Parts: sequence; structure tokens; C-alpha cells
Amino acid sequence: MLIAQISDLHIKAQARLAYGIVDTAGLLAACVQQLLRLDPQPDAVLVTGDLVDYGRPEEYALLRELLAPLALPLYLLPGNHDEREALRAAFPEPRFDYLRQQAGFLQYAVDLGPLRLLALDTVVPQQGHGALCAQRLDWLDRQLAADPRPTIVAMHHPPFATGIAHMDAIGLLQGAAELEAVLRRHPQVERVLCGHLHRSIQARFGGTLASTCPSPAHQVALDLRDAGPDCFVMEPPGYQLHAWRGGRLVTHTEVLGDWPGPYRFREGGVLID
Ligand SMILES: [Fe+2]
Repeated sequence: MLIAQISDLHIKAQARLAYGIVDTAGLLAACVQQLLRLDPQPDAVLVTGDLVDYGRPEEYALLRELLAPLALPLYLLPGNHDEREALRAAFPEPRFDYLRQQAGFLQYAVDLGPLRLLALDTVVPQQGHGALCAQRLDWLDRQLAADPRPTIVAMHHPPFATGIAHMDAIGLLQGAAELEAVLRRHPQVERVLCGHLHRSIQARFGGTLASTCPSPAHQVALDLRDAGPDCFVMEPPGYQLHAWRGGRLVTHTEVLGDWPGPYRFREGGVLID
């Protein structure tokens, strides 16, 4: 079982550049092509929010086109740049019915072969920060209590402070401690997969591991100063592959782009000197 995670696509319509700089549509198209060249192919693709930049229908229309080459189960969830109803409206086909499992909050439970995926909605409309209220957490608690199979919880805002000050200021500002308590009650949660940070970060959380994923577009600058400015950098973009094998979720972070190699370590079975 192989799950590709992409996050924070920030698609804009009419060839507009994010922040006047980033060709997010072109970069997602390149990412999709790289995913299609993977061997073995992923069994599913999880997209952890900020699918588009301003939640506009025309942005979701372009997102659809860009994701169309991925003929794989595709699991979308909203981030702070998304708009729930515009997202649902853009994906009306039965394969996206999970988007409509609940009215209101865009949360869902699906089977990924040997794993369950529980997607949480951390969105606070019109705000950058996230929240998990009692209604959203109760749903998670009930889902976990009902099924002990190994489970991935996915959400946009990570539930831990990262040390990147301007992102922590728009982090999960409500419900993190309560989420941690829910997870501690349900040890089958293998991972909490998140986005929002546009880079790869991990922390122990609630007896499991919480992690964030790079963006196929721009990355948040690594700046651990107390009052670092809100900056992004055009470091090599990336995505993650989560492999379920031997009862563990093993994560690889891959850099997108064309790089020299691969080269052999050995010649005739002997390490090259
Ligand atoms: Fe983002």
C-alpha cells in the first residue's frame, strides 16, 4: 500500500502567479507528471489542503484539469485557502462522494485497503488559523472507537507548534490538546498527516507521529527566530510517499525536478573506488 501525499497547491486561475512569483499551476502539472512516472504507482493520492489560493470556482475548475491525469483514488481535504462548498461543487462525480459524507464540516472516513483514512476539517472560514471544535473531535473519537484498524488521520493545520513563528501564529489555535487526548485513547492511529507548513516537519503527538509535507510549489522559509518575517523560498519543491509495509507507515520525502543520476554504487559487484 503506497500513498502519495501532496499539499498546498495554491492553484490560481488565468495564469496568475501566487504572490506575483509562483507558477503554482505549472508546478502542480510537473508534480503530477512525476507522480505518473513512479514505479510502483501509488494506490492513492492524498491532498492535504490549500488546494487553491482564494477558494474561487475558477480556481477549482483549473485544479480539476490539473489533477485529471491521476487516474487514482484521490482524497482532497480543505485548508485555510479553500472554500468548502466551492470545493464540493467542483468535484460532483461519485468518486468524490466522500466530500459529501457530512454537511457543513468537510470530514470523511474512507478505506485505503489495509488502512483507514479519517480526514478532519480544521478550517475557520476567512481565517488563516485552524480549529477543531467539539463537534469535529467527537466525530473523530466515534470513528476511532468504532474501528480498531490501523488509521491515518489527515488534516491541514498541524497540531503542534513548529518554531516557525508566523506559521505558528496561524496554526491550530483551538483543539490541539483535545485532539491529543482523543489520539491517546486510540493507539491504532499510525500518523497524523498534515500540510500548511510547505516543508517536511515531524513531531511526536498524542502517542503517534504528526508530520507535515512539502509543497509542489513554494516552501515556507526555514526561520526559527522568535519574530521571523513571513517569507517563502523557491527551494526544490517536493511531496511524500507513505508506504504501509510490515505493520508500519514508512515515509519518504521526495524532491521534485530533474536531477543527475541515478548512478550505480558498484561495478561488477564491487564498490567503485
Ligand atoms: Fe499553504
